[in-house]
Amino acid sequence: MIELCASVLSADFSRLGDQLREAFAAGVRRVHVDVMDGQFVPNLSMGPEVLRAVRRVSDEAGAKVAVHLMIVQPERFLEAFIAAGAQRVIVHLENAPHLTRTLARIRELGAEASVALNPATPVWMLEEVVAHVSSVLVMSVDPGFGGQRFHPDSARKIERLRRLLDERGLSRVGISVDGGVNAATIGIVARAGASCAVAGSAIFNDHASIADNVQALATAALGASL
Ligand code: DX5
Ligand code: ZN
Repeated sequence: MIELCASVLSADFSRLGDQLREAFAAGVRRVHVDVMDGQFVPNLSMGPEVLRAVRRVSDEAGAKVAVHLMIVQPERFLEAFIAAGAQRVIVHLENAPHLTRTLARIRELGAEASVALNPATPVWMLEEVVAHVSSVLVMSVDPGFGGQRFHPDSARKIERLRRLLDERGLSRVGISVDGGVNAATIGIVARAGASCAVAGSAIFNDHASIADNVQALATAALGASL
């Protein structure tokens, strides 16, 4: 069964703690924090202090927090984000020329290392690094904003990645999918072989309550795995 991960980018920041508690009460056990610098992506978001606040609430529920670094030279901020509580750090393949060193540093600092791929980046570019990560984040939108449409080619990309991992005996490596995940697309993602679906607006921005949104996503995902 695919795991659901709540991306706080679409939350109401004036009520972030309460909104996260609602998501946890509905069964969510993973949180995703998007860090944007206005350079790698055309938007700005949050830094280590927000992560620290998220971590205080996630600890109450025993949930795990991943930080998705959409910033140039992500290695400059690994220590700051891990000290602030990141349990998984995701860096972009397009943005880290010394990726094996960066991934090793993340692990050395005590977090899980993960690599993200933009929609235009082919899966084969991961060949040299998949053995060094605990998960891969497949972007199903060009990163920078919540609420974008799921890129239809993502399903085939997830399947190709699943094959690459299986061929190398790396089925322990998780596949997370980020962008445009909602009740209509989570089934596609689950069937293609992803282990984790990141959802922002489908959890925090839809018209229903957070509990109802989480329930709708879980039901849609369950339908796909039957
Ligand atoms: C986009 C971010 C996503 C974003 C997803 O750049 O990486 O994590 O929050 O938002 P939705 O689920 O609304 O597409
Ligand atoms: Zn993200």
